[in-house]
Amino acid sequence: MAIQDKIQELLKKREQAKLGGGQKRIDSQHKKGKMTARERIDLLLDDGSFEEFDMFVTHNCRDFGLEKETYLSDGVITGYGTIDGRQVYVFAQDFTVFGGSLSEAYAQKICKVMDKAMKVGAPVIGINDSGGARIQEGVRSLAGYAEIFQRNIMASGVIPQLSAIFGPCAGGAVYSPALTDFIFMTKRNSYMFVTGPKVVKTVTGEVVTEEELGGAMTHGTKSGVAHFVAEDEKEGMMLIRKLLSYLPQNNLEDPPYTPTNDPIDRLEDSLNTIIPDNPNKPYDVKDIIHAIVDENEFMEVQRFFAPNIVTGYAKFNGMPVGIVANQPNYLAGVLDINASRKAARFVRFCDAFNIPLVTLVDVPGFLPGTTQEYGGIILHGAKLLFAYGEATVPKITVTLRKSYGGAHDVMSSKQLRGDINYAWPSAEIAVMGAKGAIEVLYQKELKLITDEKEKADFSSKKEAEYKDKFANPYNAAKYGYIDDVIEPRNTRFRIIRALQSLATKKDVNPPKKHSNLPL
Ligand code: HXC
Repeated sequence: MAIQDKIQELLKKREQAKLGGGQKRIDSQHKKGKMTARERIDLLLDDGSFEEFDMFVTHNCRDFGLEKETYLSDGVITGYGTIDGRQVYVFAQDFTVFGGSLSEAYAQKICKVMDKAMKVGAPVIGINDSGGARIQEGVRSLAGYAEIFQRNIMASGVIPQLSAIFGPCAGGAVYSPALTDFIFMTKRNSYMFVTGPKVVKTVTGEVVTEEELGGAMTHGTKSGVAHFVAEDEKEGMMLIRKLLSYLPQNNLEDPPYTPTNDPIDRLEDSLNTIIPDNPNKPYDVKDIIHAIVDENEFMEVQRFFAPNIVTGYAKFNGMPVGIVANQPNYLAGVLDINASRKAARFVRFCDAFNIPLVTLVDVPGFLPGTTQEYGGIILHGAKLLFAYGEATVPKITVTLRKSYGGAHDVMSSKQLRGDINYAWPSAEIAVMGAKGAIEVLYQKELKLITDEKEKADFSSKKEAEYKDKFANPYNAAKYGYIDDVIEPRNTRFRIIRALQSLATKKDVNPPKKHSNLPL
């Protein structure tokens, strides 16, 4: 064959591969409002940057007549490209080929890009849209999944791993995304569950839709499995690109610097009056976050899950940070099981990838009650405590208002190696709130007073004394637990200076195989 003919043959094969499972199935994908795997990759990556691997791979299955049915690429598109000029590896499951189901050859394609990503130190983004294990391949498909899981585990904490769920993701297949750092779902067409509605009905009798069982809002609000819920695939891709702008390529790099015109000494007068005089009145901590970060831009992670704690990324003078903030606007900012789990995972990701932590504290304590205790708040709360205590990245804490009891210790306190701990004048750092403290300290006296009015007067007098003594930042500052009490409007400047001072911080944990985090 002449070379021109050989080139023609190559081009023809490429065209054939690009058709995946055929035009009819592509049309059906589009009809569902879903893009094809290649369209998704094009949307995700910088224009023209995609370099594909293994386009000519086909499966090796000789059962169920599959030897007569092969498709080039075998249901997953893999390769590398760039996002904002930075290299990433990608794989996108192609639902038009055997419903995107995973064969041995398909798994090997994914493993290849994961191995390459590990060697060069670049993030991996997986776009999931699959019917799970390719049934005709049986145990070889299961082995393929396990190969991927093992790589997910080895890559954890070394390179960022991101998963987009843009179609079905069911059975054991959910565990690869679950092992990655961030999961993005879309409001339509995206669902994840270990067992689908039919099996649920058979086993438990429960009748539930796919959406209710494992849709984006279920995982965004109830389970916390999804970190980002996008309106559609386009927004999902935008969110992935945006998130990467805060992350380093790997655990040996610093997060990327972006020049900013936002002055470091921008005073934010509104902050001097944002905390209500009444300590029981809520306010939105996100107003404070937006006010202090570069260009008021904050990318929230797990926005709908455990809103009593806010987590997300922002920049200070161009440098990415992870922000954790109690949210007085929801359950008074109390720490409960979900808030502890959410923040602990966030803190650990930041620490693994050299992203400094800024913690804004307004926490009345841990949520009491049997639901919490039976659910293991002791262990879950300990996760957050552990995560902060183990973290060696720069840690800056600003106590805005309440910081009570165990929750005070947990929220990046000085003794958990908090590097710089500031407080606003409105801070109340104490073992507990005034009311609770008086009930404990003066229970004998209170029992002796029979007249209700007299009792109330006694309590309020004692509460006022307690507040005077403890409901302020100076008691903690007296012992050096608070490095300085700062004017709220100056917070941005003080945080930036603190971050600059800690840019060369080195801290280590003792050598060990790994810690025994209270899981
Ligand atoms: C082989 C599959 C397949 C699979 C779908 N297809 N899933 N082929 N193995 N697992 C094929 C279909 O035969 C069909 O082929 C095409 O993909 C599209 O499927 P449809 O059913 O027409 O699509 P849709 O109606 O959109 O439904 C999608 C679906 C459904 C909900 C995913 O296909 C489904 O329930 N599939 C089976 C899911 C499943 O039980 N997987 C195994 C789970 S166990 P044609 O030729 O008509 O286009 C598992 C274990 C993983 O995954 C373990 C890891 C440790």
